[in-house]
Amino acid sequence: MNRMKDGLGPGTIAARAGAPPAEPAGPLVVSPEFATAYHQDLDDVAPVRYGRWGHRSADHLEEVLGALDRGRSVVFNSGMAAVSAVLLALLRPSDRLVLFEGGTYYETRQIADQLAGRGIEVQVLKAMAELPAAVVGARLVVVESPSNPLLDLYDLREIARIAHAAGALVAVDNSVASPLGQCPLDLGADLAMCSDAKVVGGHHDLVLGHVSSRDAELLTALQDWRYLHGGIPSAFTCWLALRSIGTLELRVQRQNANAGALVKLLATRPEVTGLRWPGSPADPQYPLAARQMMLGGGLLAFRLPGRPYLHRFLRASRLIVPATSYGGLQSTANDIGAWPHLAVPAGLVRISCGCEDTADLVDDVRDALDKAAVS
Ligand SMILES: Cc1ncc(COP(=O)(O)O)c(C=O)c1O
Repeated sequence: MNRMKDGLGPGTIAARAGAPPAEPAGPLVVSPEFATAYHQDLDDVAPVRYGRWGHRSADHLEEVLGALDRGRSVVFNSGMAAVSAVLLALLRPSDRLVLFEGGTYYETRQIADQLAGRGIEVQVLKAMAELPAAVVGARLVVVESPSNPLLDLYDLREIARIAHAAGALVAVDNSVASPLGQCPLDLGADLAMCSDAKVVGGHHDLVLGHVSSRDAELLTALQDWRYLHGGIPSAFTCWLALRSIGTLELRVQRQNANAGALVKLLATRPEVTGLRWPGSPADPQYPLAARQMMLGGGLLAFRLPGRPYLHRFLRASRLIVPATSYGGLQSTANDIGAWPHLAVPAGLVRISCGCEDTADLVDDVRDALDKAAVS
C-alpha cells in the first residue's frame, strides 16, 4: 500500500486514529464528547460552539478520514447525506449534472431525478465515449467506481481529464473501494464521497458518510451546507467510527485475501458465470483496476443458474449471511434479484467477504455450492 500523511502507511494512520497528544497521565485514546452546548466567552474571544455546527468528536474523525483520503474531509450522518450535500450544495438551477447509467448508486440517481424537476439539467450517459460532448458547459460529473452491485469500473483519470478540460468538477463515489482501496483525489477527482456504513465502519453497526477534497472552497461549501441542514453525525457515532478505523487496514487486507481465495475457487466451478472482482487478473477490467485501485477489495459478484439455485446456495452456507449492505466483519451476500428496481441477470449474487479465516470461508462456499448443485 502507498505511503500517506507524513510518510506513514494507512495501517499506521488507522491504528493511531484519534490518539490524543501524549501528556503525563493523559488518556491513550479519545472518548466521545457528548456536550452539545459550550461555555460562551463573554469577552467574545473564543468562537461560540454548538453541537450541530461542529464538535470535537467529528473533528477527530475528519482528521483521520482526510489523512486516509489524502485531502481534508467533512463527515455527514450517512453516505446519502454526503452525496446529497455534494449535489445540493454545488448545483444551481440551469447547471448540468452528468452521470453514468451503470456507475451511479440507485439512490443517487433518485436524487438526480428530483433535481431534474427543480431546473437542473441531468444527463445520464451510457458510455464513456459520450462524455466529451456531454461535459461541455456542465458543472459536475458524478461517478461510482467500482459500481455497486455489478463492480464495473470507470476510468477515473480519464473522466477527470475530460471534465477538467471542460471546466466541470468530478465527484467519485468511493464507497465500494473505501479510502484504502482507491484514492480518487490522487486520480484527479475534486471530491471523494464515501458511505462509511460499509468498509470504513466495518461492523454493520453505524450509519455514516464523508466527503474529502483538496479544494478549500468546496470544503467550505460542504461545511456550510452541513451546518445549515443539520447533517453532522453524533459524537457517539464519530467515536465508534474512529474506534472501528483502528482495525480498518487489517480488516481490508483480510477481506481482500478472502475475496482472492474465493475467486480462485469460483473460477474452477462450471455453475459460476460472469465472475467479477477487480483484484483478479482474469477480470475483464483488471488492467484499469491495476492502474487506479490499490486493492481489489472484499466485494465480488457472479451468477449462478437462476434464483432458486442461488437460494439453495445461500441456505446451504453456514458462514455467508444473506443481508444487504457490505464491508462488515461477517461475510454477507445480496441476492440482487430481490431488488426489482435493478434490472440484473437472474441468479446474480454479490458477496461481501468478511474477516473469517480464509480456509473456513473457502470450505464453506465449496460445500454450499456442492449442496446447491445436488438438491
Ligand atoms: C456505492 C454507494 N453509495 C452510497 C450509498 C449510500 O450510503 P448510506 O447507506 O450510508 O446512506 C451506498 C449504500 O449502500 C452505496 O453502496
